[in-house]
Order: sequence, then structure tokens, then C-alpha cells
Amino acid sequence: MKKIVFATNNAHKLQELRQIMSGHYEVVGLADIGCHDDIPETADTIEGNALLKAKYVSEHYGMDCFSDDTGLEIEALGGEPGVMSARYGGVAHDSERNISKVLNKMQGQTNRRARFRTAIALIANGQTHIFEGEVRGTILTERHGTGGFGYDSIFKPDEADCTFAEMSADQKNAISHRGRAVARLAAFMSRKN
Ligand code: IMP
Repeated sequence: MKKIVFATNNAHKLQELRQIMSGHYEVVGLADIGCHDDIPETADTIEGNALLKAKYVSEHYGMDCFSDDTGLEIEALGGEPGVMSARYGGVAHDSERNISKVLNKMQGQTNRRARFRTAIALIANGQTHIFEGEVRGTILTERHGTGGFGYDSIFKPDEADCTFAEMSADQKNAISHRGRAVARLAAFMSRKN
């Protein structure tokens, strides 16, 4: 079976993609190819960051690769936190701080529209492809639910009556930004095979 690298160290994401691509590709993570480098994510868009990571692996390891990057874009904040989503509160991957900063900045705001956007960059057979997925919704005034991660507890998608943090993983995947981008990637990859 053909091997493809998913440029991530996130075991949960890796497992999810392995399941989706099973039968078509063997999906391996960065650790599996011995890559422990701190791959730069210095672009100013999520597409740019996804591409940086995929390019890094394809150039340094000579393997086909895909990579994802996600941002939460809030209308009233001019698209923030956007590409800064992981470190909006000042400390990388500190979701509590990130959420507190959003809730503070959104105090008194009546326009609470927002969307999550995921970009997946694929470099295969020397060609580059970008797949996107988005989900629209609203930012609540306080946290609801304890599941999920990141900004899940303050984001209510339009398709549901509760936040992502109050859903099962399957319910979330069916409508989420990442779920939709991954479905497009998987459809493309299965056509190629
Ligand atoms: P990443 O590109 O998937 O690492 O996402 C960047 C940041 O966006 C994460 O650190 C989270 O704060 C946020 N994020 C990404 N995906 C989700 C999600 O599905 N729910 C809530 N927050 C997310």
C-alpha cells in the first residue's frame, strides 16, 4: 500500500485520518518518519502554514505528504484570532487563555458571527493541492460543555443547538471544518488510487 505522511504529532488526528484512508493509503505521522523538528508555521494565512509544513516534509524526507491548519475567524474582531488561533492568549495551545481573551474582546458585541476554517495542503507526485472546509456559527457569551478542545466550548455551529464541546466526536466530525476538509482530501485521494 502507498505510504503518505500526515505532518502532525497529534495522535488523535493521525488515528482519525488512518481510519478514513484505510484500504487506500498507509498514513504515517512525523514521529513515524523520525521527524522531531520544530517545523516553522510562520505564514500569515492558514493555507500558507499548511503548505509550509507539507513542503518541509516533502523537501527534507522526499515523501508525499499532507498537512492541516485551522483558524477561528470572528467577524466582529476583523477575522481574529485567525492564523493566531493556537496562541491568541499569548501562550501556545493554552485554550483557557485563548477563550478568555475572545470572551473579553466580545463583551457587549451583538454581532457574534464566526467560522472555523481548515486548510489541508497535499503534496503528492510533485503536485500541490489545497482542500478547505468551513463551519459557520456563533460565539456564545460563556463556556458550554467539556468535550472537544480549543474553542469548542464557546462555538455553536448553525447546524446544532449546542456547542462543539457538548457533542460526540462523531457528531462534530460530521459537520466540522476539519471533517469537511478531510472528506474532500479523502475523496480526491480515493479517485487517484
Ligand atoms: P490546528 O491548526 O489544528 O493546530 O489548530 C490551531 C488552533 O485552532 C488550535 O490550537 C485550537 O485552538 C483551534 N482549533 C483548531 N481546531 C479546532 C476545533 O475543532 N475546535 C476548537 N478549536 C480548534
